Amino acid sequence: MIEVKDICKSFGNLQVLKKVSLTVNNGDVVAVIGPSGSGKSTMLRCINRLEVIDGGSISVDGAEINGNDKQIRKIRQNMGMVFQSFNLFPHLTVYDNIALAPRLIHRKKKEELDPLVDELLQKVGLRDKKDSFPAQLSGGQQQRIAIARALAMKPNYMLFDEPTSALDPELIGEVLVVIRQLALEGMTMIIVTHEMNFARDTADRVVMMDGGQIIEEGAPDRLFQDPENERTRAFLHSVIGRQ
Ligand SMILES: Nc1ncnc2c1ncn2[C@@H]1O[C@H](COP(=O)(O)OP(=O)(O)OP(=O)(O)O)[C@@H](O)[C@H]1O
Ligand SMILES: [Mg+2]
Repeated sequence: MIEVKDICKSFGNLQVLKKVSLTVNNGDVVAVIGPSGSGKSTMLRCINRLEVIDGGSISVDGAEINGNDKQIRKIRQNMGMVFQSFNLFPHLTVYDNIALAPRLIHRKKKEELDPLVDELLQKVGLRDKKDSFPAQLSGGQQQRIAIARALAMKPNYMLFDEPTSALDPELIGEVLVVIRQLALEGMTMIIVTHEMNFARDTADRVVMMDGGQIIEEGAPDRLFQDPENERTRAFLHSVIGRQ
């Protein structure tokens, strides 16, 4: 369980998060939507401590993140993060991209790594790409490998920051299929996305951010059909109007 309580974050004079609170129970799939600059990425980055918060608290499985290096390493291992830009290591094969962290951190040997990588590649539908380099893959394939790599540490939580925003439209579906499958398997996830149909059919809950705050939160059907907040309504209108 992830408990975010009243977190604040500023960059210089700019207050980017203003008392944001969010609870994610095990098995929850939470979609985060909202306009550019509203603080969505910053919130995710605070949750896995890529940013240090100025106020409030974040607890994972009941333990407050307190800045102790060992604890932060443990939390990061337990939270897979997938970014908009795939961030694969260009000089490593698909196999080595996926095997790197379990090899270095869990000291896994080839006998364990081979079946692990195979299982993960099967999950993302790319078993035949084991020996390819990232540059030999399409954007959608690279992002699916990035998901496999994040899953290699067997995390309990997955954080996605606009995982399909950098993709050509025809490649978006294949990545969403993989994320949807993880949701069906019960993975606990926070997904920042502009894909409203995906949010609607995959998330248990949608969180709308604006101006550094969560201004509305609810079941997808309710929030999309009948938003309570005027700014949610305007945002949905502008996004869905374009789709
Ligand atoms: N490292 C940083 N230094 C200074 N300002 C930052 C930094 N990171 C983010 N910001 C600012 O914080 C605000 C929120 O940024 P954030 O990336 O969280 O927004 P977002 O909701 O993810 O937007 P987008 O939909 O465009 O990704 C923006 O005004 C951004 O310019
Ligand atoms: Mg962002």
